[in-house]
Amino acid sequence: MKRVIATVLILALSPTLQADSKAEALFDTKCMACHSKMRPTDMSKVVAPALMGVMRHVKMKYPNKSDAVAFMKDYIFNPTKEKSICTPQKIERFGLMPSQKGIVTDEELDTILPWMFDNFPPKGFRGGQGRNR
Ligand code: HEC
Repeated sequence: MKRVIATVLILALSPTLQADSKAEALFDTKCMACHSKMRPTDMSKVVAPALMGVMRHVKMKYPNKSDAVAFMKDYIFNPTKEKSICTPQKIERFGLMPSQKGIVTDEELDTILPWMFDNFPPKGFRGGQGRNR
């Protein structure tokens, strides 16, 4: 009986695990050049806010997952200063994110964005500390 339960659990979980690693791989190829998944150690090389900071701010304004995903999808294709959830200081420092139209597709974002929402900021992350604000 235990084995049956274990098998059922594995079968039930594996599609989400696969979706997760696919989402992360897509993020790595399409977004990681600018957005680090970890707290950056060398701030002089940073060209965009790290993923945990981005998601912390997105969730402050859009706590609901579908709202957050819809907002990000729109922003990634059509970024403007007015829409940005980043502070004016951030925009000043990094400049506006270049539109990713033609670089990432709608379908790819449907994979990447829910993964970003579910996994960032990671548990235990305190955005108020350190330089990543
Ligand atoms: C060429 C560098 C670059 C790439 C590639 C890039 N970004 Fe960004 N992104 C930025 C910068 C710079 C900002 C901060 C300024 C801003 O918000 O426009 C930003 C901000 C964001 C924000 C916050 C939006 C807001 O309201 O301010 C999200 C969400 C985001 N990026 C998601 C992504 C995703 C997802 C990808 C991959 C598909 C990606 N970015 C690829 C540079 C990049």
